[in-house]
Amino acid sequence: MSFTIVEQTTPRLNRCELSVPGSRPEMFEKAAASAADVIFLDLEDAVAPDDKEQARKNIIQALHDVDWGDKTISVRINGLDTHYCYRDVVDVMEQGGERLDLIMIPKAGNAKDIYAIDMMVTQIEAAVGRKKRIGFEMIIETALGMANVDEIAAASPRNESLHFGVADYAASTKARTTQIGGPNPAYAVLTDPLDDGSRATHWGDMWHYAVARMVVAARANGLRPIDGPFGDFSDPDGFAAQASRAAVLGCEGKWAIHPKQIPLANEVFTPSLAEVDKARRILVAMEEAQKSGSGAVALDGRLIDIASVRQAEALVAQADAISNG
Ligand code: GLV
Ligand code: MG
Repeated sequence: MSFTIVEQTTPRLNRCELSVPGSRPEMFEKAAASAADVIFLDLEDAVAPDDKEQARKNIIQALHDVDWGDKTISVRINGLDTHYCYRDVVDVMEQGGERLDLIMIPKAGNAKDIYAIDMMVTQIEAAVGRKKRIGFEMIIETALGMANVDEIAAASPRNESLHFGVADYAASTKARTTQIGGPNPAYAVLTDPLDDGSRATHWGDMWHYAVARMVVAARANGLRPIDGPFGDFSDPDGFAAQASRAAVLGCEGKWAIHPKQIPLANEVFTPSLAEVDKARRILVAMEEAQKSGSGAVALDGRLIDIASVRQAEALVAQADAISNG
């Protein structure tokens, strides 16, 4: 291990993060009763400019009136390039009460963006005497944000998670797609011809680099990496496949932009019984190996060593957090 210890952020379940427009208060109760671990009430892109003020009021009222149970509640403020942003922070922080857990900062471009919001939040927290410290979620969804993802991740002790905002990221990088997430048939590899002249097309994942890059920045700073939206809510298999790719790369959860996507995300991001069982067997096998003085051992015909223990411990810790959550 490095001499530098990575401090882990406040632990929270974050398998499914449901997005709910602040302009649709009729959806709040249903969201509160859903199986999502985290809900973000949106003031940004799901809310039309004329509705922003009312959405703010709806959210403030709902933070007091709705029974959110044990969910983590976040509010997505508007970007720092808009005049809505300061008022979102001031009103929600001053009037939202103690129930709010997190603020989601969209289109984070660099550490200064986070610093600016931190300054406001810190002042208001002190002024209103809040007992619970607000955490930050940052959406990485611009070329600038991805270029500066490491400094964004390290910008504040309030930081808890990085989210991949695939729609704005595609717009910012001028990627040739108009869908929200998922694969693109134009991003494919054509194999060389076989003897019979046949060739196969293998679709690739055009988001692989972005998600993997964000995961590294998040984990190097003790934050949770979370995959963002998948727009086609009529395609559960496509959603699950995208979520699985993100999970394999290290993400802890994914957004749901429709209630139908909640059970899909929960299923993908809850380690299966078989995975947990295997991890526990690795821990037992390595404990026995260490007692007998060896650093590596075979289990089911495969080598396991001390690194396998760390992988297994992370998986078991995640499973325990889910069953205790
Ligand atoms: C989310 O905000 C996105 O742009 O995908
Ligand atoms: Mg966005």
